[in-house]
Amino acid sequence: MESLWAILAPTEFVEETRTELKFKHLQPIAQAGNFFLFRGEPRHVAWAAVTWLEVKRLPAPSIGAAAKALRPLARRWALLPSLHHRRASLIFEQLRPLPQAPVEFPTALALPEGSAAFTMLDAQEVLWCRFFDRPDPLGRVEFSEDRESAPSRAYLKLWEALCLSGKWPAAGERCVDLGACPGGWTWVLASLGARVLAVDRAPLDPRIATMPGVSFRKGDAFQAKPSSLGKVDWLCSDVICVPEKLLELVEEWVAAEAALHYVCTLKFQGAADPAVVAGFERLGRVLHLAHNKHELTFVR
Ligand SMILES: C[S@@+](CC[C@H](N)C(=O)[O-])C[C@H]1O[C@@H](n2cnc3c(N)ncnc32)[C@H](O)[C@@H]1O
Repeated sequence: MESLWAILAPTEFVEETRTELKFKHLQPIAQAGNFFLFRGEPRHVAWAAVTWLEVKRLPAPSIGAAAKALRPLARRWALLPSLHHRRASLIFEQLRPLPQAPVEFPTALALPEGSAAFTMLDAQEVLWCRFFDRPDPLGRVEFSEDRESAPSRAYLKLWEALCLSGKWPAAGERCVDLGACPGGWTWVLASLGARVLAVDRAPLDPRIATMPGVSFRKGDAFQAKPSSLGKVDWLCSDVICVPEKLLELVEEWVAAEAALHYVCTLKFQGAADPAVVAGFERLGRVLHLAHNKHELTFVR
């Protein structure tokens, strides 16, 4: 039987996805907008909002026939708009939609049981899927935001990375936050009761610097070596730097077995070099989060 899988590229970064696909010798058999369909076994693509792991074809001779055939296959549906959107929308109207509710932090994100998604690249055929590498078939993650306490919106990336992996620092765990200013990530970690060493050339927001468990070291994040800091539970980095430099730092921490968990942002100026991304992939997972901009997140 034909094995199909697909990715949804992050809408604003389809070019980055194409470059990575070329680098990984992944040739789509079809593409529309940010949807790329492949034959064979699914592979990891970092510049993807979500991977559809097992895509099935279903004949759609009419709107009614397609809806009737899809209904017993899943309880709740999401529609990925692509080609034939009008026709797909009319089918979707006859299905129960997947509810979208903002998530409270911290919550381990999981796909609600019985969820599926479909799209149409051909007027006579539906492509549908029940298995995804993310908790939402379209890669969406929406949080109940805290607009009062957090000093910047960067905390949403860390919330998402932690909720996706279903793990976050326990009270008393030791975290290092590199490039911490103004303090969104430190605020997340300290709010969980963790002990945080925040490192930045610029000062923390005073509201964050005075939180229980927070200490601050002014200086270069790249001088924060495992040899001087000792072992930590979480190494977090949102430093603005070229990804090559971050890779060296992460490799050093991994080689020293100095951190149990990692959440680090790879920030790109200009085109993202897929070879550097592959370097991170040798050490852990690299994802494009719903809250990443021209960035990827390394987790381990
Ligand atoms: C995107 S901001 C971090 C935002 C932070 N995660 C938050 O949630 O508020 C990047 C930070 O990296 C810091 N930075 C850049 N290069 C650095 C270096 N070599 N050493 C220390 N901090 C650095 C900048 O001063 C800046 O505060």
